[in-house]
Amino acid sequence: MNQKTMTRTLADLRKDYTLQGLSETDANPNPFIQFQIWFQQALAAQLPEPNAMTIATATPDGKPTARMVLLKDFDERGFVFFTNYNSQKGQQIAKNPQAALVFWWAELERQVRITGHVEKVSEQESDEYFQSRPFDSRLGAWASHQSEVIGSREELEQRFQQLQAKYNNQEVPRPPYWGGFRVIPTEIEFWQGRPSRLHDRLLYTRLQDGSWKIQRLSP
Ligand SMILES: Cc1cc2nc3c(=O)[nH]c(=O)nc-3n(C[C@H](O)[C@H](O)[C@H](O)COP(=O)(O)O)c2cc1C
Repeated sequence: MNQKTMTRTLADLRKDYTLQGLSETDANPNPFIQFQIWFQQALAAQLPEPNAMTIATATPDGKPTARMVLLKDFDERGFVFFTNYNSQKGQQIAKNPQAALVFWWAELERQVRITGHVEKVSEQESDEYFQSRPFDSRLGAWASHQSEVIGSREELEQRFQQLQAKYNNQEVPRPPYWGGFRVIPTEIEFWQGRPSRLHDRLLYTRLQDGSWKIQRLSP
């Protein structure tokens, strides 16, 4: 396919969203409950990796970066993922503890956007989750100096093999630089695709007293 055909193909790629709507009367007044309802529906629909989400972070001077991570826990405190605290995202969060999350559940024609500030989860929460991971994933956390330049694939595999020999199926401690972050939302937007691009968008904003205001946004 040449570039011109590709451009035309891209311009012609479009899908009308027709599955369902989201009304103010249907939406739960508590956005965490609303998220739980949609997440359960994503699970029931057997979507591939429904807990995969994009997280955007930024340097203190506002240069944004984004990547996928996996949601591993959520409750009224916020949305938790695990990573290497020394990674690019970890360093950005340390200096500028703000983030935006995006879920896209294509088969349900739904998007959820979350913005808020970020805190580390407790050491205990990180330990508990780390110990629940498979042996090789625990070693992977030690083997990978995430986001640093590495000389070759072999270097990584050698480090991994050395760790396999060292720990030999014994208990692997959590690396001090590895753990969870919690995104504590100030805004959560639920987006349901609708025909003719007249989508439903309900934005929940956290008020000073901890309650949530719901507003409909223009699509
Ligand atoms: C579906 C998917 C899930 C991922 N989950 C995680 C995760 O939970 N934690 C993580 O650190 N990286 C995860 N990654 C890798 C990140 O996208 C990214 O490559 C890595 O964290 C380094 O990002 P950074 O250099 O911006 O810090 C995932 C990637 C994909 C495609």
